Amino acid sequence: MTASVPSIPTDQLPKHVAIIMDGNGRWAKQRSQPRAFGHRAGVRAARKVVRAASHAGVEVLTMFAFSQENWHRPLEEVSLLMRLFVATLKRQIAKLEEYGLVWRFIGDHSAFAPELRQLMAETEARTRSNKGMTLLIAVGYGGQWDIAQAAAQLAEKAQAITPEAIESRLVTAGYPAVDLLIRTGGESRISNFLLWQAAYAELYFCNTLWPEFESKNLHEALSWFAGRQRRFGRVPEAT
Ligand code: IPE
Ligand code: IPE
Ligand code: MG
Repeated sequence: MTASVPSIPTDQLPKHVAIIMDGNGRWAKQRSQPRAFGHRAGVRAARKVVRAASHAGVEVLTMFAFSQENWHRPLEEVSLLMRLFVATLKRQIAKLEEYGLVWRFIGDHSAFAPELRQLMAETEARTRSNKGMTLLIAVGYGGQWDIAQAAAQLAEKAQAITPEAIESRLVTAGYPAVDLLIRTGGESRISNFLLWQAAYAELYFCNTLWPEFESKNLHEALSWFAGRQRRFGRVPEAT
């Protein structure tokens, strides 16, 4: 329950939290279950963490649901994940008003089935004017692809390629940079997630497998973040 959670002062809260939800497969394996079992449990965990982040006052939450590299998984797993996205979105559309979330999907969606693209477009359209937390779902996303597509847009218009110009063309344009990047599942890598946007993110790696990550784990990460001193290359301010 979120009610018992001590709240973190707004100025110590990350504005933008990004999560690499990793460990569904291993969680299922520990239970002698197929990977699909882990992915279904992963969706349930995601739902709870979205609610907890929204209650905590996070402005933008980006969840890595499917990477460009995940296309290389066995066909059976890729199609299971696609079916799961469709089913989750259909179910979610019925309760889109939950916490006034603004939903956005980021990534290269060109290889997605028309039905899924339609559901993503509908979800975005129906939540565009909501006032709550922005939920960015990264699907078919790759950090290198994102930077390349931004540079390609500039090149097409013969515009100067500067950091500011690239940033303005990333799929996250207009949102704050990632303050806190969480990865569950025990690996300490970024796996081509928000490479540009996480340039100065605080990196939080934990061993918890994603299906077991709960609101209390999110609050642990938020409290850890509140204790960090961010310097952005400068020297610490005199106290
Ligand atoms: C993360 O869990 C979910 C996706 C990448 C879609 P994994 O499926 O990578 O789980 P592990 O890492 O094999 O345990
Ligand atoms: C990262 O997890 C991608 C998502 C969570 C969607 P992976 O399981 O694909 O990452 P690697 O392969 O271990 O680096
Ligand atoms: Mg994994």
